[in-house]
Amino acid sequence: MDIELRGVSRRFRMGDTYVHALSDVDLIVKGGEMVSVIGPSGSGKTTLLNIIGTLDRPTSGRVIIGGEDITDLSESRSSKLRLMQFGFIFQQFYLLPTLTAFQNVYLPIRESRGPGGSGREKAMELLETVGLSHRSRHLPSQLSGGEQQRVAIARAMANDPPIILADEPTGELDSQNSNVIMDTLTDLNRDNGKTVMIVTHDQGIARRSHRIVRMKDGRILH
Ligand SMILES: Nc1ncnc2c1ncn2[C@@H]1O[C@H](COP(=O)(O)OP(=O)(O)OP(=O)(O)O)[C@@H](O)[C@H]1O
Ligand SMILES: [Mg+2]
Repeated sequence: MDIELRGVSRRFRMGDTYVHALSDVDLIVKGGEMVSVIGPSGSGKTTLLNIIGTLDRPTSGRVIIGGEDITDLSESRSSKLRLMQFGFIFQQFYLLPTLTAFQNVYLPIRESRGPGGSGREKAMELLETVGLSHRSRHLPSQLSGGEQQRVAIARAMANDPPIILADEPTGELDSQNSNVIMDTLTDLNRDNGKTVMIVTHDQGIARRSHRIVRMKDGRILH
């Protein structure tokens, strides 16, 4: 599913000045592409992903997902869109601490399912895919950092979304865990045709993607 930004700007008001987090960004990511976003701290990478994932709205410009202009969707339509079209793997998107690994993965399935079908098996299958079926009853606090991030990936895949947005998904992990996460994301892209956008500071990770988008001061460098 294609992602397209046309002239997107996002500014934040800070007292009587503005922070220009994104300035007139044009970007097209084709369905099935795997793109890394790199750039210095504060260059607008997270803001970019938030706007694509409808967690935030641009101050000006248009956001088009799969050919549909989603810039002005109501909050209820955009939360539906988030649930079905996007899988988020964000460092700050913690797992719900009072739910087990299984329950964290099952929750979005339960929220989206129609009447009938339970989706419990689907949740277990996803945990198995990330190698964690033996940890299904653990709370997040009883899992290692890498295991928590793998649960987050399983949760991101719960409704089989066409687009995966990952914001420094390996930022706090050692190299072995980082490799597992990156292998999983690469497989999702290559084998399942998911569109994947990864914000990273790691050049090695960036090189594994089809294309690198470089950001600086809220702009994409060309
Ligand atoms: N809610 C907000 N209110 C005010 N300013 C904000 C807000 N969110 C982000 N900013 C500012 O917008 C700019 C871009 O922030 P953003 O989080 O997108 O950067 P980033 O590239 O993800 O950085 P990092 O690599 O450190 O995560 C920064 O200067 C930041 O201070
Ligand atoms: Mg960031």
